[in-house]
Amino acid sequence: MPGDVLLRALDVTRRFGGLVAVDRVSITLVRNEVHAVIGTNGAGKSTLVNMLAGELAPTQGRVQLNGRDVTRWPQPRRARAGLGRTYQRTTIFPRASVFENCRLAAQAKSQYPFDWWTRAAHCHESSHRAERAIEQAGLAGQTQRLAGTLSHGQKRQLEIAMCLATGPHVLLLDEPLAGMGPEETERMLLLLSTLKPAHAILLVEHDMDAVFRIADHITVMVNGGVIASGDPDAIRVNADVQAAYLGESEAVGTA
Ligand SMILES: Nc1ncnc2c1ncn2[C@@H]1O[C@H](COP(=O)(O)OP(=O)(O)O)[C@@H](O)[C@H]1O
Ligand SMILES: [Mg+2]
Repeated sequence: MPGDVLLRALDVTRRFGGLVAVDRVSITLVRNEVHAVIGTNGAGKSTLVNMLAGELAPTQGRVQLNGRDVTRWPQPRRARAGLGRTYQRTTIFPRASVFENCRLAAQAKSQYPFDWWTRAAHCHESSHRAERAIEQAGLAGQTQRLAGTLSHGQKRQLEIAMCLATGPHVLLLDEPLAGMGPEETERMLLLLSTLKPAHAILLVEHDMDAVFRIADHITVMVNGGVIASGDPDAIRVNADVQAAYLGESEAVGTA
């Protein structure tokens, strides 16, 4: 159902030695919403994503997926429960085809990878899921291409396809627009808007034009903490946000 709460972090904190990378952050991801997390480099965005995805244990706080406490679940178990993610850096196999990359991703979701009796069935199912994900991500014409030969934008589309091949309900996207030109950015924004109705999407992004166009909700992080969270109009006029972050360019412009 649209509006369902799919993922929730409650007061999550992560320390690295003396550094508090994420400081008591609470965040809610809802189906049919793009929730953008913005903040300067080192604000703690990727660390937050890693804790939501199960790749990094929080020092404190809880994570809930579909209403269940998954704080102690490792990443593969969360992935099987519908949590998908992409990384800030590309994670494709360049010498495998687009299809093989997606089929491997789909297979990784299988709960019984060593079950020989059902292996053939799984293989068929994985292929089907891979094909569907490739089509959804807008790469239908590139299925047999070696991933390494794709354009930068297509590689990021492939990463989303690999994520979709695992059948997620929640998408955690860490800077999917990084390094993209205007056309590739448009294509990616269109893709996100088509995925939105069926997914809860967390988008970490530096491109403010894109964020304000596509986000339904924006959370602003500074030094590990949340300084503001609300709809784009509220964030745009928030004095703390302007002072800490958005105001930077305007201040330069008016100086
Ligand atoms: N594995 C780690 N070990 C030590 N410090 C880390 C580690 N990962 C991130 N940090 C630190 O945590 C802070 C937040 O990093 P990060 O979450 O990557 O920020 P962002 O994604 O917002 O740029 C930074 O100061 C970074 O150097
Ligand atoms: Mg980051």
